[in-house]
Amino acid sequence: MSGFVEKPEPVQVPGLTHLHTGKVRDLYRNEAGDLVMVASDRMSAYDWVLPTEIPDKGRVLTRLSLWWFDQLADLVPNHVLSTELPAGAPDDWAGRTTICRSLRMVPVECVARGYLTGSGLVEYNASRTVCGLALPEGLTDGSELPAPIFTPATKAAVGDHDENVSYEEVARQVGAETAAQLRRTTLDVYGRARDIARERGIILADTKFEFGFAPTADGGEELIIGDEVLTPDSSRFWPAATWEPGHAQPSYDKQFVRDWLTSPASGWDRRSEQPPPALPQEIVDATRAKYLEAYELLTGTPWQ
Ligand SMILES: Nc1ncnc2c1ncn2[C@@H]1O[C@H](COP(=O)(O)OP(=O)(O)OP(=O)(O)O)[C@@H](O)[C@H]1O
Ligand SMILES: [Mg+2]
Repeated sequence: MSGFVEKPEPVQVPGLTHLHTGKVRDLYRNEAGDLVMVASDRMSAYDWVLPTEIPDKGRVLTRLSLWWFDQLADLVPNHVLSTELPAGAPDDWAGRTTICRSLRMVPVECVARGYLTGSGLVEYNASRTVCGLALPEGLTDGSELPAPIFTPATKAAVGDHDENVSYEEVARQVGAETAAQLRRTTLDVYGRARDIARERGIILADTKFEFGFAPTADGGEELIIGDEVLTPDSSRFWPAATWEPGHAQPSYDKQFVRDWLTSPASGWDRRSEQPPPALPQEIVDATRAKYLEAYELLTGTPWQ
């Protein structure tokens, strides 16, 4: 079982057409044909969108993505057009709404990994490879890789797990030229972001980007980075001070939520057909604090 515990109704705003309710973001189209992306406070874990929201999460994701887009602007163009609130939009959309170029999205989750963990570790333990790429012996959970690698995945529908695929499979699906461009850009952006995060005491273990194409003035198309970038939802951030390969690292994301959901305290069985329960206030507060801490450490600016 998976999906939304409670699926939210789209908001009715004159001039906006609702397109999609994603796990975290709601998408609308405005009359100019641009995309209005509204980041909610929703949280997903274990294939479920939880019934409890994390206050300010949507604003943290939005502000952090905008900050990163600026840091990356010389490497890759991004989809941001403005952060102006559409006329008639609810006040509480302020700070979590981005007007974006509507892209023809490339259906590949472009993951870069500089460290081994998660699904990469599972594959490594079975075959000493990640997405078919051979890696040296002796790596463990949290090990730094000899060099960052591009480990693409196919985008899954709500509830389904993204599936790691080989580079050759991506090239078959999107063409050799686009595949090469995705890999190059993903690794360039990862490298820049890793260095910036490291200066601020944070290890960027891995991260996921989504790219799309937009028409250019000369009748061609250009690759543009879209979606959110380098947030705790799309990335694994580890405090550098406590990094120690050999076990799971503490991270700036959903760890409190995952730990609580799988603890006896939640009374929930991941493998049951039951939806997960509401989160207790202390888990909400601790999770909110982690998102704010990630924002403040990375950007070097206080939240409010
Ligand atoms: N500039 C853009 N143009 C078109 N689509 C975009 C753009 N930027 C992001 N998207 C899409 O917007 C959606 C963002 O929503 P969100 O991240 O909440 O959904 P998701 O959980 O990743 O996927 P799903 O939509 O399957 O729930 C994604 O489907 C993403 O591919
Ligand atoms: Mg997404």
